[in-house]
Amino acid sequence: MNPSESDARTHTDSATTHPKKRVYGRRLGRPMHAARLRTLESLLPALQIPLELLCEDAKLDPASLFPNLKNSAKIHFEIGFGSGEHLHYLMKEFPHDIFIGAEPYINGMTAFLKEFETPPDNLRVHMDDALMVLNSLEDHSVDCLYILNPDPWPKSRHHKRRIVSEENLKVFARVLKPGGMMLQTTDVDELAEWMLAQTLQNPDFEWLAETPADWVTPPNGWMATRYETKGKQAGRVQKYLVFKRI
Ligand SMILES: C[S@@+](CC[C@H](N)C(=O)[O-])C[C@H]1O[C@@H](n2cnc3c(N)ncnc32)[C@H](O)[C@@H]1O
Repeated sequence: MNPSESDARTHTDSATTHPKKRVYGRRLGRPMHAARLRTLESLLPALQIPLELLCEDAKLDPASLFPNLKNSAKIHFEIGFGSGEHLHYLMKEFPHDIFIGAEPYINGMTAFLKEFETPPDNLRVHMDDALMVLNSLEDHSVDCLYILNPDPWPKSRHHKRRIVSEENLKVFARVLKPGGMMLQTTDVDELAEWMLAQTLQNPDFEWLAETPADWVTPPNGWMATRYETKGKQAGRVQKYLVFKRI
C-alpha cells in the first residue's frame, strides 16, 4: 500500500466509528494509480461531508451543506453509487439541483471524482455507509432517493445485510419529502421481489406501477450504468421500482 492509499484508508476507517457494522462489501479494490489517488486527495476534502456533522440525530439540514446555493434547489441522494455514472448523468441533466452520494468503495469514489476538474458546488459525498448521512438528515429534506443495483446478499442468512430492509425503509420514509420519489433497481429477480415486498409493507410508500410491464420499463430518459449493461448482456432483466413517498 502506498502512502496516499493508506491516507485514504485511514479516512475510511476513522469514518467507521459505529458500534453497529453496516457496510459489508469491499472498501478497497485493486491498487490505484498515483494519478487517481491525487484526484481523491485533491477533491475529496472539499466534497466530503464533515464527519462531525454526522451525529445521526436527524438535525442536519442538507441545504446547509451548500451555503452558496438556493435553498429551494431539489435534493437528490444516491446510495451506493458505484463509479457514479448515474450521479454524473443526473448532475448533467439537472445542473441547478443538489446532489449527495454515498459510496464506501474507495475505487468507486475515485472513478466518480476523476471526472471533475474542480469540486462542483452542488455535490457532497460520503465515503462510507449511506445510513450515517441519512440518519443525520432532518425529516422530509430529500426529494429523490436512488438505490441502484444494491448488493444482493443471496444467502438467506445474509438477507439482513440488504440495504432495502424494514428498518432502513423507515429512515428513507423519514427523510423523503411527502411526494418525494424513491427509485430501486436490480436485475436479481429474488431481490426485486424482496425489495418490492419490503417497501409495500411500509405504509409511507406507494408503488407507481400501473401495468405489469412497468417494472421492466426504465423511467423516461434512463441511462443504464455499466453494471446494468453487463447484466443485460448476460441475459438478466433489469427491474425498475418507482415509489412515491405518500
Ligand atoms: C452492486 S454495486 C452497484 C453500484 C451502482 N449503484 C450501479 O448500479 O452501478 C452496490 C454498491 O453499493 C455500495 N454499498 C454497499 N453498502 C453500502 C452502504 N451501506 N452505503 C452506501 N453504499 C453501499 C457498494 O460499495 C457498491 O458499490
